[in-house]
Amino acid sequence: MSLLLNRKTFGDISNSGNVLSKEEAMQLFKDWVLNERLRTHMLQVAHLMKCWAAEKEQLNEADQWRWEMAGLLHDADWDQWPEQHCKKIIEELEQRNIDPEIIHAIASHGPNHFGVEPETKMDKMLYAFDELSGLIHAYSLMRPGGYEGMELKGVKKRLKEKSFAANVSREEIQDACNRAGIALDEVIQFIIAKQGKI
Ligand SMILES: [Fe+2]
Repeated sequence: MSLLLNRKTFGDISNSGNVLSKEEAMQLFKDWVLNERLRTHMLQVAHLMKCWAAEKEQLNEADQWRWEMAGLLHDADWDQWPEQHCKKIIEELEQRNIDPEIIHAIASHGPNHFGVEPETKMDKMLYAFDELSGLIHAYSLMRPGGYEGMELKGVKKRLKEKSFAANVSREEIQDACNRAGIALDEVIQFIIAKQGKI
């Protein structure tokens, strides 16, 4: 099954700055995503995107929401239409005249799967958070204290352990950090700090 999008441009530049309201985005999320684990993952990535936009990029609230919205909806079609991932959510957002940068971030969150290169910082951070967030969450579930007391070295140990969260691609995680120009350790520490407080 190929998920290649075979496209390079998404949305329309005249829609720059157009977003869904939080209520509209949450409605779409609830309607499309029925699986609780996937919901948790998408909410976690949304939170990480918002926090990074605010704290590391020092973006204003409107831009923070654009980052958050990309995170919130990036896997919206994975649950019910895996063979159309992420084509279906892209088309939905295009029909709703959403900001092309948000759509591009969703389209490039797995360059090896969708064939779209991450270009902007928003694109690159979504790609970087996606897999790593899931691995760290899986690690928290096996620790008695969850995120409490979690350390960088514990996460790095799990990363080296191929059998742990075996479906999470270590190569993609490193590739994403390289593309974003951010050390893997910094991304891990950011996720530990933020994800434990949702
Ligand atoms: Fe994801």
